[in-house]
Amino acid sequence: MSRVLLCCGASVSIYKSCDLASKLTQAEHEVRTALTANAARLVAPQLFEAVTGQPAATTEWGSERRTAMDHIEWARWAEVLVVAPASADLLARLALGVANDLVTSSALALDPSRPRLLCPAMNPTMLEAPAVQRNLATLAADGWTTVAPGEGPMACGEVGRGRLAEPAEIAAAVEAALGRG
Ligand SMILES: Cc1cc2nc3c(=O)[nH]c(=O)nc-3n(C[C@H](O)[C@H](O)[C@H](O)COP(=O)(O)O)c2cc1C
Repeated sequence: MSRVLLCCGASVSIYKSCDLASKLTQAEHEVRTALTANAARLVAPQLFEAVTGQPAATTEWGSERRTAMDHIEWARWAEVLVVAPASADLLARLALGVANDLVTSSALALDPSRPRLLCPAMNPTMLEAPAVQRNLATLAADGWTTVAPGEGPMACGEVGRGRLAEPAEIAAAVEAALGRG
């Protein structure tokens, strides 16, 4: 059993992250979920809490139940961090070292020895955009492992590469990152 910090950006594919959270929980991992503010407009944090039995949050600014500075506590807690889905915006913020919410500040506060995975999800044209490719290369150089997006029909109506990898594939990548692949 390991402690997994699941970080979600605002992509339509976030519905698959609920299944990923469930699969990781069924594999007896403890899963906390950090969502960007826009990700939480697509899926409420409460759904992740219900699936995982662990906290889900959008902010490091505390709440009635939690003390502030969760980004440090959650980063110390995590044995592996997985960003699924990673939107184009979230990739850009991670590549730049922006730390303006719970997801990005937790990623920045994660011990460099801990594995970190990226699962991009976006429209095929966005994925091929030079800025996105540049950010992916920067993040790879920074030690992130990318779980490649799949090919097929997209919610935007296009067909191409950019679909979030399947939850089973991401779960297997998490196990591999933990040395259990
Ligand atoms: C319904 C919906 C689906 C979206 N899906 C994606 C997506 O799959 N990939 C992406 O990069 N942006 C997507 N966006 C745009 C992002 O939500 C927007 O760029 C946002 O700023 C992402 O930032 P965040 O992930 O850092 O919260 C979507 C927006 C909406 C409203």
